[in-house]
Amino acid sequence: DKGGHKYFMAKEMAEQPSAIGDTLAEYLREGAQGVVLPSEIDFSTVTRITMVACGTAYFACLTAKYWFEQLARLPVEVDIASEFRYREPPMPDGSLAIFVSQSGETADTLAALRYVAAQGVRIASVVNVPESSIARESDVVLPTRAGVEIGVASTKAFTCQLTVLAALAVKAATDRATLSPEALAETLAALRAVPGVVNQALLVTSDIAGVAAEIAKAQDVLFLGRGAMFPLALEGALKLKEISYIHAEGYASGELKHGPIALIDPNVPVVVFAPMDRLFDKTVSNMQEVMARGGKVLLVSDAEGLERASDGVWKWIKMPKVPPVFAPIAYAVPAQLLAYHTAVAKGTDVDQPRNLAKSVTVE
Ligand code: F6R
Repeated sequence: DKGGHKYFMAKEMAEQPSAIGDTLAEYLREGAQGVVLPSEIDFSTVTRITMVACGTAYFACLTAKYWFEQLARLPVEVDIASEFRYREPPMPDGSLAIFVSQSGETADTLAALRYVAAQGVRIASVVNVPESSIARESDVVLPTRAGVEIGVASTKAFTCQLTVLAALAVKAATDRATLSPEALAETLAALRAVPGVVNQALLVTSDIAGVAAEIAKAQDVLFLGRGAMFPLALEGALKLKEISYIHAEGYASGELKHGPIALIDPNVPVVVFAPMDRLFDKTVSNMQEVMARGGKVLLVSDAEGLERASDGVWKWIKMPKVPPVFAPIAYAVPAQLLAYHTAVAKGTDVDQPRNLAKSVTVE
């Protein structure tokens, strides 16, 4: 049942505030001070985190790396499962391994988990299906409560994965006392605000369908972001590729001049995720390098960012003002909507894109 929506993907995007709220309720228990996990992980004894996943779940891990490092000062290694499993990396004492998978059945992720388990490392998994193989073979199961996701392109499962990982980073920061009491309180408040902020992001009145109708004419699209917006640039590009079949690539803004800037011309739209944060000016200067070479920029930012930097941009999407720390969860929404409306404009099969399967149980 698509609940009145044209596609499951539209329904699932719209469900995000409640799915994230349900997910968060598992970790922010009534009466508890901070984040409470279903089974305890004491991060003060952890010296390193290894995160492994595939596809969109891998981008959730890449985002979480920024959070674990910044909030909890923990070294984090992130890898795609198909590479990790055959590289057979050493796992030092004090490692915690985190596997992220919507289905909990992805063959490469499960094989990577079994490799790590054989090394005697503690395993936590972020899964949407609690009865799945990955959940069953983990020491700690950290559920997402996204509900069933039918659209092949992951949307609500992704933002719920990010939410669990954000909660986990807050737990790690608490255990390791890496934040001042004020900073910890502020970070917890930002975590609590996520469902509301995602709801506001869904309500933005910018004409995303209109922008998407223009994007639909492109053959190539670039996505740029800096800091935790970099993994979101990768995710935005993947989403667009998957459902609209337009070639898209995500880059770290600062990496542009090391090669991809050669691609800039008026036929290659460049989507820039730039919330008003401490890296804003850096991202904007990369964006101006694009415009100086005739590139057309779609700037995704908040009112303040647009006021400061929208001169000369091709199009913009106005986001609500969000607490910077967990901004990738909110900015996932315009990334998804852009891909969705582009696919609708092109008339592709949004829920069942060609060549793709919802659960990849073969390697
Ligand atoms: C992209 C997408 C895939 C999955 C990947 C991992 O929209 O859905 O990239 O994220 O196949 O799947 P799970 O999370 O089930 O392990």
